[in-house]
Amino acid sequence: MNTSHPNSAPAATVAPDAPSRLVRVHSRIIDDHEYFSMSRKIVMGGDLNGAGRLFGGRLMEWVDENTALFCMVQMGTRQIVTKKISEVIFNQPADLGDILEFLCRVKSAGRTSLTAECLVMTKRIAPNDKLKVIVACDLVFVALDSEGRPAPHAYSPDAQHDPDFEF
Ligand SMILES: CC(C)(COP(=O)(O)OP(=O)(O)OC[C@H]1O[C@@H](n2cnc3c(N)ncnc32)[C@H](O)[C@@H]1OP(=O)(O)O)[C@@H](O)C(=O)NCCC(=O)NCCS
Repeated sequence: MNTSHPNSAPAATVAPDAPSRLVRVHSRIIDDHEYFSMSRKIVMGGDLNGAGRLFGGRLMEWVDENTALFCMVQMGTRQIVTKKISEVIFNQPADLGDILEFLCRVKSAGRTSLTAECLVMTKRIAPNDKLKVIVACDLVFVALDSEGRPAPHAYSPDAQHDPDFEF
């Protein structure tokens, strides 16, 4: 799937040799090969809400952190803040013991801001594990100067950085 935004990034392969996972998110079919895999988390007891499922606030903390890390690498600075998080729809619950994978991609870039999508999916470990798309949302980050004002960033769609090589 290619985005149509003029500043959208070229497709970025997470794991070139792994088979694609095509999943439906809202009305879109998504290929996970177009995302960078940022990290994985195991859902532990302390992450659950009163209904015994992953607490949404904890998930959003992980989404914000993973997408911020991704954007820092792309923008070439640690001085960024979250400006906006799009509507968040929790598609499926994450349960105790689920392994969540945080996948990110650039959607569009401005002078001082970068919009990235974060897709959270479960990892299959055992053959019977279900592949679940937990959430997909867009986040806007703004680069700041030393005075805390919006400042130009270094992202270029022609030179997208692979976080694996940057850390
Ligand atoms: C980030 C902050 C400095 C930006 O200030 P601002 O007055 O919106 O600055 P600007 O109007 O110059 O906008 C800066 C960039 O944000 C973008 N932006 C502003 N409002 C936006 C919105 N509602 N949605 C998407 N992008 C937006 C602008 O388009 C601009 O990007 P561009 O240069 O790539 O075009 C200020 O809003 C802030 O400090 N917010 C708090 C951030 C924070 O603390 N986040 C942590 C969560 S609590």
